[in-house]
Amino acid sequence: MPWGELTLNDGTTIPGIAFGTWTAGNGQNAIDQVDRAVSVGFDHIDTAQAYRNEQEAGQALRESGLAREDIYITTKFSVGGGDIEGSIQASLDNLGVKYVDLYLIHHPRLAQPDIATAWAKMEKIQVEGKVKSIGVSNFGVNDLEALLASAKVKPAANQILLHPYVYTQQAPILAIAKLHGIVIEAYSALIPITHQPGGPVDKPVNEIASRLDATPDQVLLAWVKAKGAVAVTTSTKKSRLEGYLTAGDLLLTPADVAAIDAAGAVGYRKQRTRALVRRVALVALVGALAFKAASWARNVRCM
Ligand SMILES: NC(=O)c1ccc[n+]([C@@H]2O[C@H](COP(=O)([O-])OP(=O)(O)OC[C@H]3O[C@@H](n4cnc5c(N)ncnc54)[C@H](OP(=O)(O)O)[C@@H]3O)[C@@H](O)[C@H]2O)c1
Repeated sequence: MPWGELTLNDGTTIPGIAFGTWTAGNGQNAIDQVDRAVSVGFDHIDTAQAYRNEQEAGQALRESGLAREDIYITTKFSVGGGDIEGSIQASLDNLGVKYVDLYLIHHPRLAQPDIATAWAKMEKIQVEGKVKSIGVSNFGVNDLEALLASAKVKPAANQILLHPYVYTQQAPILAIAKLHGIVIEAYSALIPITHQPGGPVDKPVNEIASRLDATPDQVLLAWVKAKGAVAVTTSTKKSRLEGYLTAGDLLLTPADVAAIDAAGAVGYRKQRTRALVRRVALVALVGALAFKAASWARNVRCM
């Protein structure tokens, strides 16, 4: 397996790439997608209560004939209300398994009534053996600090948005994660291709792709690996899934990684400037309208 495994701070290991079910939908389509991912060689499925396809993922995994210990299952507590004990049991029932390998709080706002209380419940279900590892998702630096202040067990992973255009912005989260041995899982790493094509990252990614006889998506996944993170990705296409797996063999040089980082930072600055210009233009427009309204009101009073 070219992607290998990363060791978590609780001593367990996690496969370096996961197939995500967020966009897999429901019913037979979702079953088929998970089945396809497993049949090409994915051994890590990333799902969540919110994706509403844990049942389908569980069915595909059972039908794959793989032994439970040969597949790594991540799911997430995604429903508000703070019922972590009830939710993990529902997820286990949906998936048809006795434990999940990694259970994440999907977003800090779901940690109710507060992060410390929610995390204590995560620690309890780990002791009960319902989950092997516990972690978080979309936690920022302040959220992690609040959690670590009372945690008996440090989160094993933090699953976050990570691609070259947000690398600068997410760097403080990566730094605190490194300090505490928290593995970063990168989702939506392909955004420079899927949602923001034509930006500065295209040039180094395309150049590296042609030099290594690879595709741009493979280069972006290799960039995730070079950052020491787990890649959480997906595809509806068998050939692309196979390509994602072989991307684990791509060796980016430090110069390749630096070129992608630098282009990502340029794109990030451009986005911030555009957002600032939009805000200034909006304030100016609101100001002009207010001025016009005030002048009109004055004229009406003078009539
Ligand atoms: N924790 C969280 O809050 C959170 C949030 C978002 C996602 N996630 C997890 O991360 C997983 C992946 O998320 P994502 O879908 O945003 O990830 P992604 O890896 O950035 O994007 C995957 C998409 O990229 C497309 N793609 C790949 N190569 C392409 C190319 N060369 N040209 C055009 N399109 C290409 C694929 O389309 P095709 O189907 O056409 O191949 C697929 O739909 C989710 O399923 C979920 O498990 C977690």
